[in-house]
Amino acid sequence: MKATAVSPANIAFIKYWGKKDEEERIPLNDSFSMTTDEAYTTTTVEFSPEYQTDIVEMAGADVTGQEIARTVGFLDYLRANGYSELKARVRTKNSFPKGAGAASSASGFAALAVAGNASLGMKLSEREMTVITRIGSGSACRSIPDGFVYWKTAERSDDSYAFSLYPHDYWDLRDILVFVDQSMKKIPTTDGMKDIRSSPFWKARIASVPERMERMLQAFKNREFLKFGEILEEECLNMHAVMMTQKPPLYYLNHSTFRIMERVRHLRESGIPAYYTMDAGPNVHIICTSEYESAITDAMKITAGVKQVIVNKPCRGARLIEEHLF
Ligand code: PMV
Repeated sequence: MKATAVSPANIAFIKYWGKKDEEERIPLNDSFSMTTDEAYTTTTVEFSPEYQTDIVEMAGADVTGQEIARTVGFLDYLRANGYSELKARVRTKNSFPKGAGAASSASGFAALAVAGNASLGMKLSEREMTVITRIGSGSACRSIPDGFVYWKTAERSDDSYAFSLYPHDYWDLRDILVFVDQSMKKIPTTDGMKDIRSSPFWKARIASVPERMERMLQAFKNREFLKFGEILEEECLNMHAVMMTQKPPLYYLNHSTFRIMERVRHLRESGIPAYYTMDAGPNVHIICTSEYESAITDAMKITAGVKQVIVNKPCRGARLIEEHLF
């Protein structure tokens, strides 16, 4: 059966960096994120006796050997779960540049998991779907539920799942995604994360997350944007400090990133509440409430080094659709 899913990416407010278990992708700490409606992946999967080998295609882009290997590895996992030996054809389309730290692996694996399971005729609960998706790419499990999503760590694989803490319409936030570099990132997160314990700061980071999470969730619950934004930046800098002090050091941010961070501080000084956060790449996610969306977007469009701006709203998670890509 042919099945197609569309999945948003997500931006982490409290981030996932480092695993307890590499194979099962169980994170060292809980994380919290927002789905992004304009940065999404559409994927069609067909498991069929018609195919002799797995075929992996991407509309408008080449697929690297590493991407094919990781996709086929995940198809093997789906086959093992669904008691199938059929090969599959997979075709994917992204609404945004892939691999530049804009969480294309999150939307990519979430769409692949939902379409793949449907193609195999599997009926899973949302919780089970998040566990399976997590095996493909950790942060991808946060793209399955609705809106503002919490992913918890656990001792057992089945207990490390993601769920919607607040629906997408709980708070009318924006993620203004500012691209300063659209090329592929050099060090994939799976590889970079393995070295977390080589940073002298890693234990302090992991120990500090629960307290920061609690403060953030308190501010979030009350929709106190300024408090929330301050904790957002604190968390982002904390993760990047660990990345930069790993051996070898990981510099995902570049000079254009720092220029945008400075612009965001200037916007705040001029009375516009805006806060930044970056994942594993140089592109900046500026978080604001809806009323400041156009002022910030206009300011970014005339800032040197900015290549593209995508304005995201929180949205529902991954879902099946009727229109197939082949
Ligand atoms: O799941 P991965 O391998 O794409 O790791 C994502 C890690 C960060 O984007 C840096 C943080 C996060 O929680 O999304």
